[in-house]
Amino acid sequence: MAIFGQKKTYDTEGLKVPVSLGVIMDGNGRWAKKRMLPRSAGHRAGAENLKELCRNCGNYGVKYLTVYAFSTENWVRPDDEVHQLMELFVEFWERYDPELEEEGIRVRFSGDIDSLPENIREVCKRGEERSKHRQKMTLIVAFNYGGRREVENACRQIAERVKAGEIEPGEITEKMISDNMYLPDVPDPELIIRPSGEMRLSNFLLWESAYSEFWMSECLWPDFGYEELTQAFRDYAKRDRRFGGLGASGK
Ligand code: FPP
Repeated sequence: MAIFGQKKTYDTEGLKVPVSLGVIMDGNGRWAKKRMLPRSAGHRAGAENLKELCRNCGNYGVKYLTVYAFSTENWVRPDDEVHQLMELFVEFWERYDPELEEEGIRVRFSGDIDSLPENIREVCKRGEERSKHRQKMTLIVAFNYGGRREVENACRQIAERVKAGEIEPGEITEKMISDNMYLPDVPDPELIIRPSGEMRLSNFLLWESAYSEFWMSECLWPDFGYEELTQAFRDYAKRDRRFGGLGASGK
């Protein structure tokens, strides 16, 4: 079915829309530099674009959108940049929640949330609470997130169960590890998009991306729009996902 809105056509013919999509929002700094603006302006433009991505993904029928907003490694950036990113994060949910509500977008947070300052933890809690009834799409914001830290956390939880005598080490399975990830009910992403020309995962969804398809583009995150998203879904439709088997062609 084609949905027409905001002068865009959300027609999925010739496209494959993933149920679960991951996006690494990279290139804010370079976007700002090209315009001789401070890096903070790039992050602000990136935040605006996240709103646009949510609308486009929701209308295309994506059910789970996971975005990489702040990694466990991003703390090494200059203090003022970290501070601006935290402020932007707080401002974003207060300012845009009505629009997310209108779009039917639920928000969840993934990462080492317990280690964040109290005001940020409160924002996360409030955002999740007030949006939990929304059904069109779930936006998962990876914040203070690191794939290795997530695996480390899962190992610790499982080790506690071994220590308590609930399970034997030999009973540990892949499924048990998946069940101990931050959000075990969120399906692994079928597709991960990274704009800005970088060809790496940067510690994003390490466990969950085992069989994800990757789509990269040169365009910087604040410029990544409907056209690029549509092209990613068009290219994804042509991928032969074999999961270690022989795939559709049988060759
Ligand atoms: C990477 O680009 C981007 C980040 C570390 C931050 C991503 C944050 C946003 C898009 C802002 C808003 C998010 C929320 C949830 C409010 P970079 O700065 O490393 O870019 P560069 O590689 O060009 O320097």
